[in-house]
Amino acid sequence: MELFIDTADLKEIEEVSKYPFVKGVTTNPSLIAKANLTQKEVITRITSLIDGPISAEVTKEDMDGMIEQALKLHEIDKKNIVIKLPMTIEGLKACKYLTDKGIKTNVTLCFSLAQALLAMEANATYVSPFMGRLDDNGFDSLELIKECVQLKKNYGYKTKIIAASIRSVKHVEDCALAGSDIATVPYKVLLKLIKHSLTDAGLETFRLDAQKTAKLEEKK
Ligand code: E4P
Repeated sequence: MELFIDTADLKEIEEVSKYPFVKGVTTNPSLIAKANLTQKEVITRITSLIDGPISAEVTKEDMDGMIEQALKLHEIDKKNIVIKLPMTIEGLKACKYLTDKGIKTNVTLCFSLAQALLAMEANATYVSPFMGRLDDNGFDSLELIKECVQLKKNYGYKTKIIAASIRSVKHVEDCALAGSDIATVPYKVLLKLIKHSLTDAGLETFRLDAQKTAKLEEKK
C-alpha cells in the first residue's frame, strides 16, 4: 500500500520529501487555509518538493466553475496535479469530464459504498473514503474500506482507493490489510509508523554493546 502525506504544511512536506516511503500529497481547503498562502502558492511549492500525485481541491459548487478552477490547477504541473472534487452530482460530472480529458481526479468526502460506486462509475482516478470522520460518528470505517476493495474486485474498476482522514497507526495497518491502494496520513501519524518500544530498547542495547567492542578495539 502506498503512503501519501495529508497536509499543506510546507515544512512537513519538505521533511517527508526525503523519506523513501512517501509517494504523494493530499490537501484540502482547511489544510490550505492553515498554510496562510494562496492555494496556487502552496501547490506550486509542493510540486517542487514531491514528484508524485498531489491532490488540489476545487471549491466552486457548479461543474463549470469546478472545471475552470481545475484547468488552472492542472497548469501548475500537468504530470502530478490531481483534481480533488466533492462528492456531489456537479463534482461527479466534473470528474467524468476531467478524467476523459486525461486529467487525474480524486473524489473526496466519501462516506458510503454507494458514493464510492458513483465515483468509480464516474471514472475517478482516486476515491477517498474518510476513516476518522466515520469512526468519530459511530460508523465502521474499516468495513467501508473492505467493501470498496470488494467493489473494485467485483467489477474491475481502475479507481484507486485512498483511505483518508487517518487518525492512527491502527488505521494505517487496518486499511493496508483490507487492501486499500493508498493511505493518506497526517505528518504526526507518519512519524509514529516507524516507532516501536522494542526497536528503541533494542537500539539502546546495541549502542551500549557496540561501545564495549569499540573500547576493546581501541586497546588492541
Ligand atoms: C483527505 O484527502 C482529506 O484531506 C483528509 O484526510 C481529511 O482528514 P480529517 O478528517 O482529519 O480532516
